[in-house]
Amino acid sequence: MRQAGRYLPEYRELRAQAGDFLTTCLTPEMAVEITLQPIRRFAFDAAILFSDILVLPHALGQSVRFEEGTGPILKALTRASDIDDLAVRGFIDRLAPVYEAVRRLRADLPAQTTLIGFAGAPWTVASYMIEGRSSKDFAKAKAWAYRDPVSFQRLIDLLIETTADHLICQAEAGAEALQLFDSWAGVWPEGALRRWCLDPARAIRERVRAACPDVPMIAFPRGVGLLYETFAETSGAEGLSLDTTVPLVWARDHVQTKVTVQGNLDPIALLAGGEAQREETARILDTLAAKPFIFNLGHGILPETPIVHVQTLVDHVRAWRAPA
Ligand code: CP3
Repeated sequence: MRQAGRYLPEYRELRAQAGDFLTTCLTPEMAVEITLQPIRRFAFDAAILFSDILVLPHALGQSVRFEEGTGPILKALTRASDIDDLAVRGFIDRLAPVYEAVRRLRADLPAQTTLIGFAGAPWTVASYMIEGRSSKDFAKAKAWAYRDPVSFQRLIDLLIETTADHLICQAEAGAEALQLFDSWAGVWPEGALRRWCLDPARAIRERVRAACPDVPMIAFPRGVGLLYETFAETSGAEGLSLDTTVPLVWARDHVQTKVTVQGNLDPIALLAGGEAQREETARILDTLAAKPFIFNLGHGILPETPIVHVQTLVDHVRAWRAPA
């Protein structure tokens, strides 16, 4: 959940000297250095590759840039024929710097530090490809899916195939676990959620398993509520990343019985620190840590988060012991 990033002064310093954000992602030296920054400071059990979910649309030939203060800006797809113009052939070659970063990281990281590769899930990536930027209501992307499900399915299928290939290449380069980020899964009613989020997650899981049977996958279908249980039962993912809103006792009884869970500290509790952070962290550990569990946030760390709160969190989690 954004281990690297603007909350670290060494990240801000490197980014101030580097070029644009996408170039930073696609320059192995920089991607490696940024991935290692939080590991040097906190010695987390796992390192997540520094990259972005939007390197995929970029590799498919869509114009993608990141604007300070606004976030990503893409040349939005507006009609079905735009899908056919995407440059699927050769897209993986344009992502070669990502795999090079993974190879170097596996060599540079301590042996006990798991390296996690990742990609965006088809719906979340499609939402940026159609909206052209971050959105509040996803009206353009959702309306496309409702009005013309045939062409929308074509886009999702293209993303299933390319995302699976992108994940397989990361695993072959040395990623030891893979995470699939569906940050905007929670905006759909049930039927659409199954079609545009659950089915693609399962399809990607199956493709990746066929190529790399020993590499586990963590899915992050953020905001799906009760359907977390369905994801646990049918997505094929070995791990599920719980968002901050998931009730923990329910998750313990209905999700953790089926897959490993991770989560779900409110990033704002970490930003606030103090008693709120301590209580929330303790509640998560006490509820979930007796079964397969990875301590994590419920969403990305915020740039304003004081570093000392992160250190306090690490110390708290490392000191936790199961009640005798
Ligand atoms: O966790 C990590 O350290 C790995 C790196 C990582 C980034 N993005 C780097 C990044 C990961 C796993 C992502 C995933 C990602 N990217 C998601 C899914 C997870 C989520 O947070 O919901 C999404 C939706 C994106 C798309 C994206 N990238 C947005 C909307 C933004 C702008 C928001 C912002 O904070 O400015 C980004 C930029 C981005 N990706 C930054 C980082 C460190 C900040 C860029 C900077 O200011 O240097």
